[in-house]
Amino acid sequence: MKKPTRVNHPPTVELPPGNRAVVAPIYQSVKFEFDSLADTERYLRGERPGFFYTRASNPTTRQLELLLAELQGRDDCLVTASGVGAISQTLLALTRQGDHVLCFVETYNPTRYLIRRLLGRFGVTHTMLSIEDLAGVERALAAPTRLVIFESPTNPITRIADIAALTRLGHTAGALVVMDNTFAGFHQHGEYQVDLFVHSLTKYASGAGDVMGGAVIGRSELLRPMRTDFGALGGTLDPHAAFLILRGLKTYFVRYQAQCASAAALAQLLAAHPAVARVHYPGLPAHPQHALAARQMRDFGTIVSFDLHGGEAAARRFADALELFALAASLGSTESLVVTPQMMGGRELNAEQQRLSGITAGTVRLSIGLEDADDLAQDVSQALGAAGG
Ligand SMILES: Cc1ncc(COP(=O)(O)O)c(C=O)c1O
Repeated sequence: MKKPTRVNHPPTVELPPGNRAVVAPIYQSVKFEFDSLADTERYLRGERPGFFYTRASNPTTRQLELLLAELQGRDDCLVTASGVGAISQTLLALTRQGDHVLCFVETYNPTRYLIRRLLGRFGVTHTMLSIEDLAGVERALAAPTRLVIFESPTNPITRIADIAALTRLGHTAGALVVMDNTFAGFHQHGEYQVDLFVHSLTKYASGAGDVMGGAVIGRSELLRPMRTDFGALGGTLDPHAAFLILRGLKTYFVRYQAQCASAAALAQLLAAHPAVARVHYPGLPAHPQHALAARQMRDFGTIVSFDLHGGEAAARRFADALELFALAASLGSTESLVVTPQMMGGRELNAEQQRLSGITAGTVRLSIGLEDADDLAQDVSQALGAAGG
């Protein structure tokens, strides 16, 4: 074999029987081959297992799918290139012209955009309510409805969806119930009769804020036909990203719990400060839905939002005065982050929907990272001082 040929067919190194890597290798390969054309044909007819082309499946992304399914308490999962990819591909795979979708004002902006603008272009209608309006949900579900899609806790006001009521009402009406569970994480809400959980893996799964990914998790009979659509839509997660997310997941529980503990301490600090009008943290007994949150959740999350008496000017002073919090989107990373209403979007909501969303000019959202809790408290205290009344 000449050297230009050799570099394209390098020596094979296979582990001998009884010898394995402790950390699974990254299958950074688009293509997989079988020993013969007959075997390849058997695979393509679905008569033998294996891998063929990474857009359809890959051993590293499959390992991530199996782990996520188990964490969320379901038997299958599909991973995608981003959280929004998981949501858009799920919406496209499950709806057709003439369908009706029930969604909520408190939903993540790009999800609302996908339902209103993208599905709207294909003749899918929607109703948008507040997540607390269960009477409205019942009325809306009197019309034939394909999907109910919601989040809990909501972004950024941390309203809590009544998951048992929403799944019961949705199923009674014959709708599929989809929950974006990104905020609560993979270890929560699995006991509810949600048909499909979607997650942004960009957040708590990776943890380090250096890789994007998404997942949809549910029963295999629901996901099997979706896998074909997802493969054709092409928003595949790269195996290297899957490897980084698998690595991140090893510390998921310790990170989530440590970040929740710091979030709870900061929520208390904020609640006691005279510059703060209201704190939104479901772990605080003063949160209007604390009892529901305590029934549904084991950990109350790492997002603490609050309204400053001083409105927009105070929110600006607060955000600029923080030293440890990056003025950046996203959440669930090891660094603490701050977001103000100017960074939150939602401009396409009408005045009534804006009011229902609960976001005021003085609303600030903190995403709590893994820094020392006392350092974070000191930083928030000095920034509250700078914000003034
Ligand atoms: C609740 C929620 N769902 C989905 C996403 C989208 O995830 P990604 O940025 O990975 O596309 C986000 C991102 O902020 C989110 O907060």
